[in-house]
Amino acid sequence: MRVQVAIIGSGPSGLLLGQLLQLAGIDNIILEQRSRDYVLGRIRAGVLEEGAVELLDRAKVGGRLHREGLIHTGFDISFAGARHRIDLAGLTGGKKVVIYGQTEITRDMMDAREASGARTVYEALDVEIMDFDSSQPRVRYRKDSVEHEITCDFIAGCDGFHGVCRESVPKNAITNYEKVYPFGWIGLLSETPPVSEELIYVSHERGFGLCSMRSPTRSRTYLQCSLSDSVEQWSDDKFWDELKVRLGPETAANLITGPSIEKSIAPLRSFVAEPMRFGTLLLAGDASHIVPPTGAKGLNLAASDIHYLSTALIDYYNSGKSTELDQYSERALKRIWKAERFSWWMTTLLHRLPENGEIGARLQNAELEYLFTSRAAQTSLAENYVGLPY
Ligand code: FAD
Ligand code: DHB
Repeated sequence: MRVQVAIIGSGPSGLLLGQLLQLAGIDNIILEQRSRDYVLGRIRAGVLEEGAVELLDRAKVGGRLHREGLIHTGFDISFAGARHRIDLAGLTGGKKVVIYGQTEITRDMMDAREASGARTVYEALDVEIMDFDSSQPRVRYRKDSVEHEITCDFIAGCDGFHGVCRESVPKNAITNYEKVYPFGWIGLLSETPPVSEELIYVSHERGFGLCSMRSPTRSRTYLQCSLSDSVEQWSDDKFWDELKVRLGPETAANLITGPSIEKSIAPLRSFVAEPMRFGTLLLAGDASHIVPPTGAKGLNLAASDIHYLSTALIDYYNSGKSTELDQYSERALKRIWKAERFSWWMTTLLHRLPENGEIGARLQNAELEYLFTSRAAQTSLAENYVGLPY
């Protein structure tokens, strides 16, 4: 089989790229190692920047997002028994974010792809990528015990942090930058109304907390936990009791608890692999970088990568020139590093970091006090949170 672009991975990066290429008349196939239901069963991000929403509109998959997404113009930081509002819209000239789950975006893009007749191979096993130092790269995979080979012009590595694409690059051609944080997040999804209309990020001496949501009746809540914790150690009761302590009595009085629909632990990591292009292999999204989730940037960065990559590929096929493709890595990495900095900053601002000692805790408190009293500091937080320009 021959296609113009072979996309590895049907997460947000792969599906969005596939959709934009499809609309531009560029022939593509997506190879995904998991089943459709498995991909849709993963509970991940929930906050979309305006730039990501615009891109989803451009990809003609924004309909349900605009009907069901919740527009948020601010969020709270809870610290030392008080809540402080960050007025995102007021600080950024009217910018806002939209709460709409990654699962829903994924479903909308999968439905659009099916309706367009574009090909996706789920449960494509043992994907191998070859010859991407040439203009005739190849992809091999196995489906239902049958071996397949695809030749293409480009391979888009949209296969996440544990994927095969970045791993296939010769070690001397790639540089990895990494920081692993000494704690994790336990996340709980519940069919309960959110404790407040807006998100609450909690900085407490027992650890970080985050009250987010998926809809007016569905909450997504996170707690900082130990890396050695297992989900079994966190009964629903223990989770809600700990959240109440970290929220403080006033906010906890409004908390409605209920059984978990999903509960999982995620490690926190900052990671960037440079560059993002190796001949005819182009990496995007988590395949190339990871942020700790505190600033809600992971999914939004996947979207901005795909903005740069899709415009570069479309320009290549329209004009025959590779100027934009040649600039892809540099342009995407500029924005990625700024989001990495912001996510690292927000993580170190709000989490309990015992390894930094008492002086670390005092400095953290001073930084929070400064933030709550300085419009300049709040503006910096707000302009990064709503998303830097593409
Ligand atoms: P992925 O979503 O990882 O998609 C990659 C796809 O490639 C997957 O479907 C995978 O099955 C497939 N794949 C992998 N290897 C192969 C292979 N060898 N062959 C074929 N297919 C393959 N971000 C936030 O902003 N907020 C959050 O709260 C948040 N929570 C998260 C929680 C967890 C547990 C994780 C892992 C991530 C979270 N993120 C969060 C980050 C966000 O979800 C990611 O940034 C986003 O999913 C990146 O999309 P992607 O398409 O690049 O990668
Ligand atoms: C969500 C996750 C985040 O990491 C964040 O900063 C805000 C919201 C969420 O899953 O809703």
